[in-house]
Amino acid sequence: MSRKQKTPRWLKAARRRKTPVVPGERADWLARALGRAGVMPRAEAERAILEGRVEVDGRVEREPFAPVSPRAEVRVDGQVRSLDAPLIVLMFHKPAGPVVAGWDREGVGTVFERLRAVLPAELQGFEWYAVGRLDRDTTGLLLFTNDERLVQHGTSPEAHLPKCYVATVAGHPTLAALRMLRDGLVLEDGPTRPAEAQLLAPDCVELVLTEGRRHQVKRMLAAVGYPVRTLHREAVGRLVLDVPEGACRRLTDAEVAETLEFSSE
Ligand code: URA
Repeated sequence: MSRKQKTPRWLKAARRRKTPVVPGERADWLARALGRAGVMPRAEAERAILEGRVEVDGRVEREPFAPVSPRAEVRVDGQVRSLDAPLIVLMFHKPAGPVVAGWDREGVGTVFERLRAVLPAELQGFEWYAVGRLDRDTTGLLLFTNDERLVQHGTSPEAHLPKCYVATVAGHPTLAALRMLRDGLVLEDGPTRPAEAQLLAPDCVELVLTEGRRHQVKRMLAAVGYPVRTLHREAVGRLVLDVPEGACRRLTDAEVAETLEFSSE
């Protein structure tokens, strides 16, 4: 029996209110719009809305999923707050340990907690989305953004944004193994796209992929006989990791456009 698809809560709220979709205008719901604009993170915004602290165009709004226009006048605790949302992208150097998920059943912690611990005060109000995933034990470049369209761009198979990984492996990969990695091989979820592969040391492989399937680097190296011992992501697009472990920095608009080939226009 096929499982019935659940209608998202924001869509139900929009239908209930018969909100017209304005062509060219970005559809959004109140709690998410507050998070994207940096007024307060989404969970906090939901609480504030339920507590009756948020007004939209002069009326208290108690529905976190209420559709909202970017031009609405929004007040939080009586203060006018803009819903204008600049595109913000952060480079974060993920240490081994935290999980790329909203919560961690193993109690080591999440990358979102690690990020918030090092964010300057002016960036604390945003809701952050990780652009793709890294395994718990993988270190290196993880991007965060307040804009889901960048998440889509960074993770979509169509964008083909290259991701550069450095893996230390068990054994010394042969030229034949490198050739298989480059040509593409068949994993249980299908063939891999051609990749760049080169040895940086007898037991260290640099692999550049233009796709990002689950555990892909580990599975590719295991498939050619060299299981991964450590894995580090060095670059995404033309953006190379340049902050110390655990630290983050905000990218300039030019970096986002040039290295990640993304524009919010
Ligand atoms: N490939 C993997 O196997 N793990 C990662 O964390 C990223 C890519």
